[in-house]
Amino acid sequence: MKDTVTIIDNATGKQIDCPVYQGTYGPRVIDTQALYKKLGMFTLDPGFVTTASCRSAITYLDGEEGILLYRGYPIEQLAEHSTYLEVCYLLLYGELPTAIQMLEFEEAIKTRQLVHEHLTRSYAGYRYDAHPMSIMVGITGALSSYYHEALDINDPDDRDLTAIRIIGKMPTIAAHCHKHSVGHPFVYPNYSLGYVENFMNMMFSHPSRPYELNPKAVRALDLLLILHADHEQNAGTSTVRLAGSAEANPFACIAAGMATLWGRAHGGANEAVIHMLNQIGDRKNILNFIKRAKDKSDPFRLMGFGHRVYKNYDPRAKIIREACHDLLQEMDTVDQPLFEIAMELERIALEDEYFLKRKLYPNVDYYSGIILKALEIPLPMYTVMFAVARSAGWISQWMEMISDADRRIGRPRQLYTGPVRRDYAPVELRGPITAVLRNS
Ligand code: CMC
Repeated sequence: MKDTVTIIDNATGKQIDCPVYQGTYGPRVIDTQALYKKLGMFTLDPGFVTTASCRSAITYLDGEEGILLYRGYPIEQLAEHSTYLEVCYLLLYGELPTAIQMLEFEEAIKTRQLVHEHLTRSYAGYRYDAHPMSIMVGITGALSSYYHEALDINDPDDRDLTAIRIIGKMPTIAAHCHKHSVGHPFVYPNYSLGYVENFMNMMFSHPSRPYELNPKAVRALDLLLILHADHEQNAGTSTVRLAGSAEANPFACIAAGMATLWGRAHGGANEAVIHMLNQIGDRKNILNFIKRAKDKSDPFRLMGFGHRVYKNYDPRAKIIREACHDLLQEMDTVDQPLFEIAMELERIALEDEYFLKRKLYPNVDYYSGIILKALEIPLPMYTVMFAVARSAGWISQWMEMISDADRRIGRPRQLYTGPVRRDYAPVELRGPITAVLRNS
């Protein structure tokens, strides 16, 4: 028997049978597309808590079990055995590459790392103390003006080249943001270095002193990039898909996703966590911050805690927490007091009824800042690092959306609660004339 759910409108007695689908994993999904046509009704779901916006074969997460899969591969296995660039290939094309495919992919990415010299001059238009995410959004959007020859979204080769360009150029654009903020000359990509090595070299090398790459730091950053590479239909990714559904230029779509990611409730949380831990400053102040987080009259929330989907420990946070421990043994740049405050705050919160009842656990952003700090990445660059990593997920999701036969422009509806129709009144009929001259 066909799996359906019957929706009955008690007001009119009309009813429809909505098809129900089962994906590879996850809850069954009711197809409500016929609801408006047959019953003249919409569904209301603020925050899209129970709405599947698309079909996707890229990433799966089970929030109750704390499972995250990229193209079916558990994040724990990818974190242990893979590299960020290999994960990019997997997200884009659906399979792990053979050795030859990987070599070709690396070469394609490498040769697309340079950004147009005119574009590097655009950085000068930003104030020296601009937040690097504002520069990232602007420069990524501006990439749209450089590649007219390959912007046919209906051409798979153009789409592929765009994806390679985005993954290739993001580290360069990000490193230039940092160099702009400190007033140092930009460092060009070096084709003899690997993807992460190259990023670190562009960030930290300096004309007046040599820069030596630390393999442990390189591996730690590679791990962070893998863990942030994709995460299903979150706010940033949904923004990319929505902009893309209007057939917007793909670089503009990625810039839109980046602007969304910047929010404190999303990728901006990694920076906010470090501000919070610094503000706590000492273990003895932790209880006071926990009290504030529970107080509904105080807007303060524990940053890096809670997740819309994970109602169990975020598997990415578990991996990063262990990586922090490992780094602590190996690198003297780890801020041990900060890490200790973070662990103690986590311990106390996870014994507290408020957090247990609401299933609020540390998320990916809780410990990632500790690693970025150990790698000497400046605090305002934390969300930029998230954006660099997530670009692979965004462009993979964009490619999947564009080639989806069901693609239509994203156009949600609303429950209108404004005034009923009324007629325009001339100003003299709107009330007494009282001279209100503000600022006078
Ligand atoms: N501290 C204190 N209380 C919290 C927190 C928190 N961090 N997060 C949620 N709550 C409470 C919230 O007040 C609500 O309580 P009640 O039921 O009594 O009204 C309940 O938990 C459910 O919260 P919600 O806001 O309805 O949950 P949501 O799914 O809409 O929001 C979230 C998810 C991630 C935006 C939220 O947990 C949050 O603001 N966390 C802090 C910011 C953060 O760490 N963001 C990074 C998310 S992971 C990476 C990413 O998405 O980029």
